[in-house]
Amino acid sequence: MSEVNTKELIEQLKDSKSEDDRKKCIPLLQEYLRGHPDDAVAWYDLAGCFDFIGLETDAEPCYKRTFDLGYKNLPEKEQSGFFVGYGSTLRNNLKFSESKDVLQKAVEEFPNYPALDVFLAFTLYTEGKFKDAAQKLFSAVGKLDGKPFDGYERAIKYYVDNLENHPESPGPATIETDRLLLRPLTDADVESVFEYCSDPEVSKFTTWSPHKTLEDSRALISYAKKNYQRNIPEPYAITLKSEPKKVVGTVGWFWVSEPHKNIEVAYALAKNLWGQGLMLEASKAVLNAAMKNHDINRISSRCIAENSGSARVMEKLGMKYEGTQRQVMFVKGKFVDLKLYAVLKSEWQS
Ligand SMILES: CC(C)(COP(=O)(O)OP(=O)(O)OC[C@H]1O[C@@H](n2cnc3c(N)ncnc32)[C@H](O)[C@@H]1OP(=O)(O)O)[C@@H](O)C(=O)NCCC(=O)NCCS
Repeated sequence: MSEVNTKELIEQLKDSKSEDDRKKCIPLLQEYLRGHPDDAVAWYDLAGCFDFIGLETDAEPCYKRTFDLGYKNLPEKEQSGFFVGYGSTLRNNLKFSESKDVLQKAVEEFPNYPALDVFLAFTLYTEGKFKDAAQKLFSAVGKLDGKPFDGYERAIKYYVDNLENHPESPGPATIETDRLLLRPLTDADVESVFEYCSDPEVSKFTTWSPHKTLEDSRALISYAKKNYQRNIPEPYAITLKSEPKKVVGTVGWFWVSEPHKNIEVAYALAKNLWGQGLMLEASKAVLNAAMKNHDINRISSRCIAENSGSARVMEKLGMKYEGTQRQVMFVKGKFVDLKLYAVLKSEWQS
């Protein structure tokens, strides 16, 4: 197809309300961008097509490219809408701090555009900052002044529908590490939880049995949601930054004794990711946050005596071996010994 024809077809399809049209438009835009890699408008159109069909992981780098090239290259009337799309995509990809930065910048730049306040409020809400979210929403309502919502009803509906999957309290704030996003589990995670929890290798040395049906995975999520409501981050979902919607493990902590300022940490990871330092990275980040936000004097962890991988993670966390609790649990039909490790606040190195 000639470049002129490609461009014409793109123009016809890029703003269509049909998902099929948007899907057709994607390869055309990609082809066009190969020859025009600095065309901010085309990157924005490509982001919009991915976004429209729900492929937000693909949309994000396209929005970012538009942003890096300069959003001022977009027609003026599109500039504020660009920020709604970019900020929401970052939020839906669970990158809350980036989403907040982008939307905050936009709110300052376009103070009379209430949609931006609303989408910033969504990010704050999802992150667990209810009061800040409410303030933003109230200020947006004031600015609306009877005007329609500029076509964002579909995006808001999408968000509200997805909110149904969130527990009443969204749970602990997301933690970002070099390679991971640690975030609350939600009902939408049931299949990816099942994928690694049904692997008998993963549960070989755990006190829980491999998940046999999705119901087992739902039970884990419901246990997490109950804990979140009591402000206990047990467990966080572990996700790779490159695929934040897929849960590949869990890490969390709970009080052994709050009056004695004593917590226990627990974790598990999908087998294909073992041996890359990921659990050390995840547990270190979760425990750093715990130490920062709570008055904790001692962190302990226990593993079945044969679980040398888990013991090694504990040692790498700076924990000391304190002894073996003989036959302390009855697991999968037999009594098991647990090795006990712990680190004190005075020894903790963040
Ligand atoms: C135990 C587990 C969490 C380790 O996760 P991981 O991401 O592979 O661990 P890391 O890569 O961060 O490893 C940290 C250290 O432990 C070592 N290690 C990891 N698995 C090991 C194993 N099976 N045997 C010996 N050492 C091991 C690593 O080599 C590394 O030490 P090093 O830096 O000195 O080489 C993971 O294997 C797992 O999920 N197992 C199944 C569930 C489970 O047993 N959970 C714990 C219940 S108590």
